Amino acid sequence: MRLAILLSGRGSNFQAIHEAIAARRLPAEIAVVIANRPEAPGLGLARNAGYETHAIDHRLYKTRAEHEDAVIALIDHAEVDFICLAGYMRLLSPPFVRRFQHRIVNIHPSLLPSFPGVDAQAQAVEHGVRISGCTVHLVDQNLDAGPILVQRAVEVRDDDDAESLSARILVEEHIAYVDALIKLGRGAPIVEGRRVIFATRDS
Ligand code: GRF
Repeated sequence: MRLAILLSGRGSNFQAIHEAIAARRLPAEIAVVIANRPEAPGLGLARNAGYETHAIDHRLYKTRAEHEDAVIALIDHAEVDFICLAGYMRLLSPPFVRRFQHRIVNIHPSLLPSFPGVDAQAQAVEHGVRISGCTVHLVDQNLDAGPILVQRAVEVRDDDDAESLSARILVEEHIAYVDALIKLGRGAPIVEGRRVIFATRDS
């Protein structure tokens, strides 16, 4: 299973995927790592790990479509099975999502459909929920809304703030992302409406 990783920042989810592959827990190959910000620390991590990396700075393109075309050209060239969004802070246009239907994976730091959008962990603390967590999902045309692959729960403590909750959710994100990719690696899932049925090894 060949993967493209798209990121914008820190890159800890990329790092978790990389480590799982290196440890042979995840039978996959990272074919290309693309960032929309040249200064993204995650891009440096990927470069140091020896991957093909590209900075495709959205600020240098006139339109979203032109920027996406540059990203798509790299993804096509890399011939990947899945595109993993790992802290990629750009909305994907409907044509982009349609082109790679059920092949774009995202991670979000809440138990969707609760708290989509930015600052999900702060939203959870403010709302007073007792359980939050993370969600790995297929990307559709709505923000943080596609069919769910894997979720992991995290208890919200009385003394939590957004930062402390984020740190505990992040630990679970790294496990969840790898788990979702292991499951996808067994074969293309069946997507029935919102429900995902993973392939088993013998199917
Ligand atoms: C994670 O919290 C992820 O859920 C969200 O963006 C953050 C990215 O973190 N989509 P990192 O760059 O993978 O460390």
